[in-house]
Amino acid sequence: MRCSCDALMFPTPLYSHAGRGCFSDVYEPAEDSFLLIDALEKDAERLKQSSCTDVNPAASQCTQETSHCNSLQLQPLVTDLVECLLPRLNGKVDVLVFNPPYVVTPSEEVGSHGIEASWAGGKRGREVMDRFFPIIPQLLSVHGLFYLVTVSENNPKEILSLLRESGLKGDACLSRQAGRERLSILRFSKQ
Ligand SMILES: C[S@@+](CC[C@H](N)C(=O)[O-])C[C@H]1O[C@@H](n2cnc3c(N)ncnc32)[C@H](O)[C@@H]1O
Repeated sequence: MRCSCDALMFPTPLYSHAGRGCFSDVYEPAEDSFLLIDALEKDAERLKQSSCTDVNPAASQCTQETSHCNSLQLQPLVTDLVECLLPRLNGKVDVLVFNPPYVVTPSEEVGSHGIEASWAGGKRGREVMDRFFPIIPQLLSVHGLFYLVTVSENNPKEILSLLRESGLKGDACLSRQAGRERLSILRFSKQ
């Protein structure tokens, strides 16, 4: 979960260390990551701060390396979702970004702290993101934004209506076909 922006046009971040060598157990940025970056770039004016968490310790170290390569300062935290930030950040998060494990897999594959955590989403690919949804309204500040990567198997329309019931207004701000995946970035704000 992360965000970082402060100008209108951005070069693609340097990430050649991800997915290889000592970071071989870390998700290598792919079409979903780049669609998310495009959506954030479109909203760059509204995005100012950075934060990030991951359940995979190697992914957090890799993010540290990425921030170093791109002259950014980040403090990646190893935690399940945002557990270690609660309740301290309640009502204080202006921008929340989640590219979750969204692939449909057997439920038994969910819960790894290794590379499998990058994709294993369990039933309908929703098991990890569904655990996160109830936390979002309490985390977001009054003007906060939440960005979520989804694929069609996750039923984005249902996610939009589920979060609407918790007071979050959302839309699909960017969509793209990437191989077999129909990717959409959902963007939510408080109503
Ligand atoms: C699809 S990858 C996205 C990686 C990267 N953020 C990107 O956009 O390229 C999903 C990431 O979510 C992390 N993850 C999976 N379950 C998590 C959980 N319960 N809490 C925190 N992070 C989790 C994985 O370890 C993996 O790094």
